[in-house]
Amino acid sequence: MKLSSIAQTLEGSEIIKIAGEVNEMKAKGIAIANLTIGDFDPNLFPIPQELQDYIIEAYEDHQTNYPTGDGVLALRQHVAKFVNHRQGLIYNEKTEILISGGSRPLIYATYLALIDAGDKVIYPAPSWNNNHYVHLLGAHGIAVPTLPENNFMPTAADLKPFIKGSTLLALCSPLNPTGTMFSAEGLREICEMVLEENQSRKADEKPLYILYDQIYSQLTFGNHKHIDPVTLLPELRDYTIFIDGSSKCFAATGVRVGWGFGPANVISKMKAIVGHMGAWAPKAEQVASAKFLENTKAVDTFLNNFKKEVKHSLDTLYDSIIDLKNEGFAVDAIEPMGAIYLTIKLDYVGKTTLDGEVLDTSAKLNFYIIQNANMALVPFSAFGTEDLCWYRASVGACSAKEIKSKIPQLKKVLSSLK
Ligand SMILES: Cc1ncc(COP(=O)(O)O)c(C=O)c1O
Repeated sequence: MKLSSIAQTLEGSEIIKIAGEVNEMKAKGIAIANLTIGDFDPNLFPIPQELQDYIIEAYEDHQTNYPTGDGVLALRQHVAKFVNHRQGLIYNEKTEILISGGSRPLIYATYLALIDAGDKVIYPAPSWNNNHYVHLLGAHGIAVPTLPENNFMPTAADLKPFIKGSTLLALCSPLNPTGTMFSAEGLREICEMVLEENQSRKADEKPLYILYDQIYSQLTFGNHKHIDPVTLLPELRDYTIFIDGSSKCFAATGVRVGWGFGPANVISKMKAIVGHMGAWAPKAEQVASAKFLENTKAVDTFLNNFKKEVKHSLDTLYDSIIDLKNEGFAVDAIEPMGAIYLTIKLDYVGKTTLDGEVLDTSAKLNFYIIQNANMALVPFSAFGTEDLCWYRASVGACSAKEIKSKIPQLKKVLSSLK
């Protein structure tokens, strides 16, 4: 039976396919280091205890009817304070902040509020899911390849050829899938270019907007500081829509509380779109999240411990890969800066297995490593790039100990490839 052309041409997620393989092996009792999904194992990384207590309290208090369309006011107020405290930005809780069921509906609503079919949307490759949102809108997506020597972050020079006539520039930092971040200088150059472009557009032309996905902004390590377009260039306030939420920073992917903020004219349309989709966050979770954000001591304590553990897992993996590199293996990794991801290079595409199979794509190499080294990664091809020899490792569902235990197997498998 015929479906809509969008539905018929929708691509399934490559990550889900890999997860299927991992789950099949797990079902057979094989212990796999599952570094695939951008999620948390709640046994390793539970949500903050206070947040859990507040959620239970909110249900006991019967906070179970429809929330207001833009989110419960107390949550918007505490999001405004959180954003002000963490980034020094001032956003009005009545007109410029929107809550939804996780941050995905906010991304989709941003696209729906700004993009007409055929409009140009620029995004770096690798990046997360922009290709799918572009497809849903019938937009003209421009995936701009980025380079390992720039930590796979886009530069102004990379983006410049595509700025004219584009409607949306989708950026993310810390970036999924790489765990790398913009430097202030790097982002400033991009922001100046966007502002200059907007100043040159006529009043009846759509401006070039920035979707700034900062869902990992609280998960940064060492000297790597999160930075954003509006802090760098306040004139970009009218053109920037921020995407944020509790999924990653509070290990609360299943709690489904996201928040976005931006200019009132865009946010009010996004509110209507989220309302038509009914993609609100559950009310009890909103009430609880407001209370949790208010408890700054609990937030800070949680974030400190959580970041330490995530960093420890990332460092364990990073150090192991660099050790292999130093031993002469064709591998590499980029120092973890933020989020829950490590970028790993396995330069073995095109090699032949002991059984004579040629591993001619990064996906094939990945499946071979899953089956033989019991370690599961995601090739960057799942994030809109050409087939490269780079992979994402996500540490949210795997302990440092488990990661370490798989390195000898990985070494054996890589040694066997000719
Ligand atoms: C960059 C980025 N933005 C947004 C999301 C979606 O978050 P949520 O689970 O809150 O919808 C993810 C989830 O993986 C992500 O990696």
